Amino acid sequence: MLPVKVSEGVHWVGALDPQLRVFDIIMKADHGTTYNAYLITGGDKIAVVDTVKAPFYEDFIANIRSLVDPRDIAYVIVNHTEPDHSGSLARFLEDAPNAKVVCDRQCKNFVKNILNRDVDPMLVQDGDVLDLGGGTELRFIHAPFLHWPDTMFTYYGKDGVLFTCDFLGAHYCDDRIFDDLVNDYSHAFEYYYLVIFRPFKKHVLEAIEKIKDLEIKVIATSHGPVLRSDPWSYVEKYRSWSLKPEPTGQKNLLVFYASAYGNTAALAESIARGAREDGARVTVMDVASTELGLMIDRIEAADGIAVGSATINGDAVEPVWYLLSHLATLNLKGKVGASFGSYGWSGEAPKLIAERLKGLKLKVEEEPLRVNLVPTAEDLREAEEFGRRIARSL
Ligand SMILES: Cc1cc2nc3c(=O)[nH]c(=O)nc-3n(C[C@H](O)[C@H](O)[C@H](O)COP(=O)(O)O)c2cc1C
Ligand SMILES: [Fe+2]
Ligand SMILES: [Fe+2]
Repeated sequence: MLPVKVSEGVHWVGALDPQLRVFDIIMKADHGTTYNAYLITGGDKIAVVDTVKAPFYEDFIANIRSLVDPRDIAYVIVNHTEPDHSGSLARFLEDAPNAKVVCDRQCKNFVKNILNRDVDPMLVQDGDVLDLGGGTELRFIHAPFLHWPDTMFTYYGKDGVLFTCDFLGAHYCDDRIFDDLVNDYSHAFEYYYLVIFRPFKKHVLEAIEKIKDLEIKVIATSHGPVLRSDPWSYVEKYRSWSLKPEPTGQKNLLVFYASAYGNTAALAESIARGAREDGARVTVMDVASTELGLMIDRIEAADGIAVGSATINGDAVEPVWYLLSHLATLNLKGKVGASFGSYGWSGEAPKLIAERLKGLKLKVEEEPLRVNLVPTAEDLREAEEFGRRIARSL
């Protein structure tokens, strides 16, 4: 795809990857992704912000060549050394031999270990300014752990463009490039936050504090749409997702379930009803269709969790184990745990879940609630009672 003008002095020179379906092994990318890189020609000296994933180098360099001679490029800014942005740096430096690598101090060793040679980068730190001549400059903002220790933002004040790398990005490929031209991609935007930035909420809030007084017209991320319609609205979303929830005064119970035929789901609803009657705030979630990051987020803030699974081949099902295998880093002490499920003949799942919850140091006082096949009206009343007792113990 051809370069796209972002502002007077900035062009998008990245690459589209519409076929991608899985990113970094762990992330879904149902709409592919883009590797956004930018060329800044507004000053006397030319700069590039980030490169692209290695297999896409030809697209990137062709875009640059259509605008300038790569030998005239004075700087290549490395905002983040993950290979989706730095993977073609070595080849780029061959085509742009006069480009000085500019990176955060934290990033020096990363750059060295990616290129496997010393490139003597210009090391910058928070607040440093690089003069591009012609009354233009770049300012660097250290934004550690968003999402690697090396990450920084680069601000091109002349046009009000903030380059944030992965921060505020999304895996969403659309050749119309700008957020006001593409379809609604809010789902991909939120998913990206949940998987990449949710573990770094404190750092998200600190970075927002650092940029809050900048005059920003465009946020140029490294994946997905370039944000120009209302850039601060995206920042606000990150802020609200990263703030600690206000205590409501009400006890919070989460009821998770996995159910093939709806029997365990029916138990989940009855448990929730009972717990609500006893004054708890209850959310019911289907583990097979809810985003992991969202579930973990809610567990962090909950007073208790009840986890249900149908028994399939003598075990609880994979989505349940997937969730339970991601809780070890949370502080679960003092939270109440309980388990339940419908079964046909052996009914191992609720017992295995209870053991795991105990292993995670949750307070598991109720015997697992097990119901044979389709719950009767009496079974559902028992499940409500089970929910009431859990609510009381929160
Ligand atoms: C492929 C398969 C394997 C199953 N294996 C077991 C099992 O090992 N032990 C058991 O108690 N029930 C087993 N069941 C029965 C289910 O646990 C039972 O149908 C239950 O009511 C399903 O609950 P659900 O409606 O919440 O999915 C199996 C069912 C299926 C479809
Ligand atoms: Fe990254
Ligand atoms: Fe990235």
